[in-house]
Amino acid sequence: MPTWLPALNTGLIAISGLAALTGYFCIRRRNITAHKWAMLTALTFAALFLLVYLTRAALYGGAHYAGHGLSRVVYFVILISHSILAAALGPLALVTAYRALTRQFRRHRRIARFTLPIWLYVAVTGWIIYVMLYGL
Ligand code: HEM
Repeated sequence: MPTWLPALNTGLIAISGLAALTGYFCIRRRNITAHKWAMLTALTFAALFLLVYLTRAALYGGAHYAGHGLSRVVYFVILISHSILAAALGPLALVTAYRALTRQFRRHRRIARFTLPIWLYVAVTGWIIYVMLYGL
């Protein structure tokens, strides 16, 4: 597998997380337009991540963690929680965005309070997994 491919993947998920965090600060300042565009950017990068990730998995298969002992346990706890939450994030993010774009803002806010922390967790653990697998 080309070494830049996992780096590209992790870069995409990190940009997505940073855009979502920016979107959160925008809505805290009541800047709805900036919030909207930051969140749509976050969604776009998450979709790009998924595309690259699935293509990479189909072409090259998964990576194997070489560590032993406690670090291996930590790696799998992070990997499993990351994968489950990443799978949940897809539908959650779409419903969250749909509710906002159809102006159901009260319902949007209710679900967004789950979506956003999950989004940030997936982005941060994506980075941790990358560092544990490939180093910096
Ligand atoms: C999937 C992407 C999105 C996420 C994760 C998200 C996240 C959030 C969060 C966490 C809040 C609550 C902030 C707080 O409690 O103070 C919020 C509120 C809000 N969001 Fe989004 N948002 C997204 C997309 C959008 C889009 C596309 C719009 C389009 C206009 C939008 C419009 C709003 C508005 C107007 C509020 C305030 C609702 C209220 O206070 O009743 N959001 N969003």
